[in-house]
Amino acid sequence: MFKAKEAAGVTVDPERIPRHVAIIMDGNGRWAQKRHLPRIAGHKQGMENVRTITRAASDLGVKVLTLYAFSTENWGRPQKEVSYLMSLPVTFFNKFVPELIDQNVRVMVMGNIDRLPESTRTATLNAVRDTADNTGMVLNFALNYGGRDEIVRATQAIATDVAAGQLQPDQIDMQAVSDRLMTAPLGTLADPDLLIRTSGEERISNFLLWQLAYTEMVFTDALWPDFGPDELTAAVGEYQSRDRRFGKVK
Ligand code: FPP
Repeated sequence: MFKAKEAAGVTVDPERIPRHVAIIMDGNGRWAQKRHLPRIAGHKQGMENVRTITRAASDLGVKVLTLYAFSTENWGRPQKEVSYLMSLPVTFFNKFVPELIDQNVRVMVMGNIDRLPESTRTATLNAVRDTADNTGMVLNFALNYGGRDEIVRATQAIATDVAAGQLQPDQIDMQAVSDRLMTAPLGTLADPDLLIRTSGEERISNFLLWQLAYTEMVFTDALWPDFGPDELTAAVGEYQSRDRRFGKVK
């Protein structure tokens, strides 16, 4: 884990920028608590930081930025907090879609979006539609997403194809599974190169369970609203110091 205060002044090799960066944006509640503010103030600041880090990642040359915005387990939070979290995509896209279009950023979403409130789903799908022609970084929101839920759904899809006679059991291979995961539209960029989790916690929390098989993980003590462009650059620097062997030898 690196300490946030060590982040400034790190330089990175532009030739080895992780293509897909995934972030577990943790620590909004503690950020608010430290300031004697309600938890939702932390989420609001967290949303503002999504804007900052989107720009910073795009400027660095990241191809896909996947953000864990709401997990299948987050429904268990107090109802007021869930409602507020559900309002954030509406606020975010209303405010920032023109800016995302300026930056050539394409919005994508993964998760069980059918269960989202109508206003959240519509705002998100409109942002996906309005940025569909953009060719720059993909900003991929995980909304009502859970890694186990994703694997269950892929398994159901495989079973359906087998039952219909469209797939033989011996044709079920890793590609057949990957093709039915929610990251399939990302093609060769489906698996993150780098996972960052903020706020000092060091766990995966049901995020991209299949896709993280060979991902480099960086944990930082910075709370998500404090995780700025310097901290992102430092995390990329840490990533570049790693020796990725994918289970092989050099
Ligand atoms: C975890 O922090 C954070 C979340 C569950 C929500 C993350 C959402 C955002 C950062 C905003 C999303 C923005 C858009 C545009 C969808 P926590 O509340 O668990 O923090 P704590 O562990 O300190 O309590």
